[in-house]
Amino acid sequence: MRPTQAPFPATRLRRARQSPAIRALTRENSLSVSDFIWPVFVRAGDGIEEPIPSMPGVFRRSVDKIVEAAREAADLGIPAICIFPYTSIEERTEDCAGAWDPENHANRAIRAIKAAVPQIAVMTDVALDTYNINGHDGFVENGEIVNDRTIEALVKMTLSQAEAGADIIGPSDMMDGRIGAMRAALETAGHQNVMILSYAAKYASAFYGPFRDAVGASGALTGDKKTYQMDPGNSDEALRLIERDLREGADMVMVKPGMPYLDICRRVKDTFGAPTYAYQVSGEFSMIQAAAEHGWVDGEKVMMESLMAFKRAGCDGILTYFAPAAARLLNAQQ
Ligand code: PBG
Repeated sequence: MRPTQAPFPATRLRRARQSPAIRALTRENSLSVSDFIWPVFVRAGDGIEEPIPSMPGVFRRSVDKIVEAAREAADLGIPAICIFPYTSIEERTEDCAGAWDPENHANRAIRAIKAAVPQIAVMTDVALDTYNINGHDGFVENGEIVNDRTIEALVKMTLSQAEAGADIIGPSDMMDGRIGAMRAALETAGHQNVMILSYAAKYASAFYGPFRDAVGASGALTGDKKTYQMDPGNSDEALRLIERDLREGADMVMVKPGMPYLDICRRVKDTFGAPTYAYQVSGEFSMIQAAAEHGWVDGEKVMMESLMAFKRAGCDGILTYFAPAAARLLNAQQ
């Protein structure tokens, strides 16, 4: 029940908006550098920072440059970085064996970061799409994305990342039953402190378009991901998925994409009270960057407003390509 308010003029709600000081005092939510997880793309080579055309300001970096980026992020106060590998079509196979190769780009990056910048938490991506010849997150048999055989591969991938030193495993594959299998394998292998941030409510979204360019999956992907990622028309199903993954041992849960799904973030936080994250995905990022480049919106202001929206919707943190830029702004405001 809302407390009743005195009628006008005893209540003048504009009083609380009259000055920066009063607005600061009455602001309900706040954004801080410690809310960010920064997704980065790692590729082969040395000394490489290759711009991604569909994501202005974002790069594919070789491992040495990823380490520099991680150091920069840690210096800004960003608590976590999330590693995605870029793989060329030649590096992709039907058996996806690269996914659990201890020497794949992602695992090399994890080891290098943990050696050089141990204070930053490293999150990973668990899904087969970046190693799969057909760009799907699971194995494809006779045109079907098969669940249970995929889980065996995801578990191997998880263990290789934990061995490399990952702090947070990020399954983005949307197979059924993978959280329980991954948790059990981590416990058995002595990785009881390795966390799982489940992409539990992940929608089949066109907002992932620029990301698929970034990781080299656009040309590879055959068909769509609608048999495993969620239908954008659904909301109750998100709660069932989150509940399932929490029961299987997820430490944290994610809603993805972010801005078009803030209603889901709010429902998830209110229903479970678990650590809840949103992924402001590539398409959301690139739309803001494109409009800003044209001078149609003020890029910095829209960036900060979009990030605050996630906090207002109940999120504990945000995966965002804006992390360093937003961190610099927040640090300058202090
Ligand atoms: C795939 C994966 C995707 C993203 C993160 N992991 C794309 C997809 O499901 O096709 C998207 C991230 C973004 O768009 O920024 N495992």
